[in-house]
Amino acid sequence: MLAPQAETDRTDDFFGFCHESNRLYPRFAAELLEETGIDIELDRTGTLYLAFSDDDVKEINRRCVWQKGVGLKVEYLAAEEIRRAEPFVSPDVREGLFFPDDGQVENRKLLAALQKFAELNEIRVVENAEVKNLVVENGRVVTAETANERFSADVFILAAGAWTSLLRLGGFDPPFRPEIKPIRGQMLGFRAARRFFRHVIYSPRGYLVPRLDGRILAGATVEDAGFDKTVTPEAVDFLLAQTLEIAPSLANLEIHEKWSGLRPFAAGGLPVIGLVPGAENLFAATGHYRNGILLAPLTAEALADKIAKNVESRYLQVFAPQSRESKVRSQEVG
Ligand code: GLY
Repeated sequence: MLAPQAETDRTDDFFGFCHESNRLYPRFAAELLEETGIDIELDRTGTLYLAFSDDDVKEINRRCVWQKGVGLKVEYLAAEEIRRAEPFVSPDVREGLFFPDDGQVENRKLLAALQKFAELNEIRVVENAEVKNLVVENGRVVTAETANERFSADVFILAAGAWTSLLRLGGFDPPFRPEIKPIRGQMLGFRAARRFFRHVIYSPRGYLVPRLDGRILAGATVEDAGFDKTVTPEAVDFLLAQTLEIAPSLANLEIHEKWSGLRPFAAGGLPVIGLVPGAENLFAATGHYRNGILLAPLTAEALADKIAKNVESRYLQVFAPQSRESKVRSQEVG
């Protein structure tokens, strides 16, 4: 999902970053289509956020008040309006919100398009090759070493997602030890011959994402389970329950796919982007947690502007990586 208004709770720098990155998507999708011929299925139909209980109604009203208060596009919908827009939504729905600027993109096609772009531009992608060591001389990374190869470059970007903290990053003063942990999200995929829904649909317990080809994705758990990508029976039950709460008629569909992903969680759930402290040519682009796809274009643009033009987005300051020492200091002062 590209869902700043469903995924954030206040209008802060993180919201601003999500919102600006969302606005880059139409151009990003058009450029990828032109350069690779792959349509990433950017869908701007909007997102529904639905209430099924008293607590949900309170949450919906709180969200509506803060978003209207800061001038975001949001519409309140009564139950009949929701059922007119999406007839397969449960008759138990109480009320909801419509975020016209939120949407979705087909992430597997996005990855395919980026891969094709790399291929067409002779960018070599080396997969399943763990970086065992970074060789640092006077604050500059000179080489990244894998078991089979050594890579030299002028600039390095650390974009290892949930696995970032496993990299050995000695050689900097102060030492940089990114504390990023994996948070598992388990998902179900249903396959239908036709499209059941037009919008991405959220409840406070989960979401349904209808794809153009009829698939419906249901997500997701939020679990601190280490680097374990197992799909568990408990999670399948939980995901089925939240799916059927939104749309009971999906009980007739078979589960076509089950999988999990590891979200990279850093302190406060905020991304870590910018120059690594004590390093001259090592940048971090990690910690994107629940919004990696949404935040990809603006993260890339901010880093490219800094590296290629020395133009610094203010977000590189806001989300700058901190050394362990300065993090402890800032926690001490409050
Ligand atoms: N972006 C939704 C999730 O991480 O589950």
